Amino acid sequence: MALRQILHHPDPRLRTRATPVTRFDDELAVLIEDMFETMYDAPGIGLAATQINVHRRVIVVDVSTDRSAPLHLVNPELVETSGEEEMEEGCLSVPGIFETVRRAECIRVRARNRTGQTFELDADGLLAVCIQHEIDHLDGKLFVDYLSQLKQGRIRKKLEKEQRLAV
Ligand code: NI
Repeated sequence: MALRQILHHPDPRLRTRATPVTRFDDELAVLIEDMFETMYDAPGIGLAATQINVHRRVIVVDVSTDRSAPLHLVNPELVETSGEEEMEEGCLSVPGIFETVRRAECIRVRARNRTGQTFELDADGLLAVCIQHEIDHLDGKLFVDYLSQLKQGRIRKKLEKEQRLAV
């Protein structure tokens, strides 16, 4: 297993649309293990392959407080959504920024596991928000895209400045 580097906004690679996984092989298993390790190390509750510059449709999630609910979804698709809720979100690719985003309250997601088996999962609350946030990453979308242009501009400037200082 290995820690992977997480891309930070406004890195243009975060805007890449990921392609579906077609081979359920050892390379995929290693990718998923590395994603869990990177997410837990950060620490975070979700990570999309896009964030480590791998443009395949894979996400990992664990919304528990003790790493007891690891979940990986390959080629995830929302098949049903209902309701609306607002929650404060953050993102490992947008460090230090927390803003309220409105999303569906309840979702049904269809995905494959690491061996290629299809499954469906119903989720609400934090898990539903997290899965929607991670699927957005696979489409090149960030949670800050839901904010006003003014806020987006401020966030972009702040992160660009921090990245210059960090070099
Ligand atoms: Ni994120």
